[in-house]
Amino acid sequence: MKMKPAEQLAANPADLDPIEIASRDEISALQLTRLRWSLKHAYDNVPHYKKAFDNKGIHPDDLKTLADLAKFPFTVKSDLRDNYPYDMFAVPREKVVRIHASSGTTGQPTVVGYTRNDIEMWSGVMARSLRAAGTKPGDIVHVAYGYGLFTGGLGAHYGAEKLGCTVIPVSGGMTARQVQLIVDFKPRVIMVTPSYLLNILDEMERQGVTPQDTHLEVGVFGAEPWTNEMRQQIEQRSNLHAVDIYGLSEVIGPGVASECIETKDGLHVWEDHFYPEIIDPETGEVLPDGEFGELVFTSLTKEAFPIIRYRTRDLTRLLPGTARSMRRIEKITGRSDDMLIIRGVNLFPTQIEEILVQLDALSPHYQLELYKKGNLDAVKVHCERSPQADNEAGLAAASQLAKTVKATIGVSIEPVIHDPGSVARSEGKAQRVIDKRNET
Ligand code: DLL
Repeated sequence: MKMKPAEQLAANPADLDPIEIASRDEISALQLTRLRWSLKHAYDNVPHYKKAFDNKGIHPDDLKTLADLAKFPFTVKSDLRDNYPYDMFAVPREKVVRIHASSGTTGQPTVVGYTRNDIEMWSGVMARSLRAAGTKPGDIVHVAYGYGLFTGGLGAHYGAEKLGCTVIPVSGGMTARQVQLIVDFKPRVIMVTPSYLLNILDEMERQGVTPQDTHLEVGVFGAEPWTNEMRQQIEQRSNLHAVDIYGLSEVIGPGVASECIETKDGLHVWEDHFYPEIIDPETGEVLPDGEFGELVFTSLTKEAFPIIRYRTRDLTRLLPGTARSMRRIEKITGRSDDMLIIRGVNLFPTQIEEILVQLDALSPHYQLELYKKGNLDAVKVHCERSPQADNEAGLAAASQLAKTVKATIGVSIEPVIHDPGSVARSEGKAQRVIDKRNET
């Protein structure tokens, strides 16, 4: 099917929640009222917050303006771990109708909880995100985010149902079956991580299905960083509009911020429920809109698990609204934990991606391997020849990759070219960095 122009697929303004196109003043007034409630709710009901506020000599009543939020303490992942599993809840456990948890590669998982109202709010912001992405009531929606403790699958599912769609709850994995269901059930919308979508597209080609010939028109992609260059590559290859969605379990799950299909210019934060700040990650100082730093969120309406000034470690900047009044975040560059420092130069996997996906002889699958060369850190970039390219073209592209990375980022990388299909494939969040620095 041909790709329809995005303007044709955009939501009808009459269908939006009024707050999506309210004035800045209206949004700020609502935020202030809700922020006061949320701070008090956290202080009165969660011992951790009472102690943290008291230690800083600050009280919820001290919040007179939105800017006063800067006086309140940050919350970090270890605070959630220290209160594992239920001590960050602000309501009796019996009022919690759902638990999610992050897998936690190290240590305990982070546990989050939802009341019935929280699930309703979450479904509402997810429905709003789907609508912004060009989904309409009645659409068939294929959900390939994982179901379970991860928030992706169930978050997407409830939002799509709330919007009035027909949901296919496939979850992640069993890639051959994903293709069969896309062909047979004819979904118009797919929700999946961008790296898993690439894996599904490869499988389509293996099965002789042309990705451009499916009924898919819209992809709602998130849960991991991906670049505008990757967007272009996906759109060309599959004829579907690739729209970005952001979120994290600690704040609610997917649906904290979302792009609009007609602009694809960054993600509108649903500011009536989640208050964003950008801080300098070193000093903790709040930075003005437009400046690059770490994203911090405060929940405004959550009951079971209020979160105050949560440091996401995601790096981006805040920009003014466009298709909606609410501010946008620029596409996330990466997490501060994923930033590699190679001989003094900062490097994010997304910077490699931007260059790599533009080289036709390389497939868009890649992985960075960090290792020790003597006393210094060095990085290999594992990439693979695209099926259409011969060995020579693959080698030339790999050396071009290294040259462009050196010229634009200033880092020397060692490209390692593999045969098609050899770089690890993702069925959810891609693992972009393998750290072998501690291996002998
Ligand atoms: O990944 C929630 C989600 C599910 C979002 C499905 C979008 C779609 P967590 O597992 O808690 O929650 O991981 C949250 O993933 O702090 C970011 O580092 C990263 N992340 C999520 N969305 C994006 C995105 C879900 N659109 C962490 N771009 C966040 C870049 C993203 N990074």
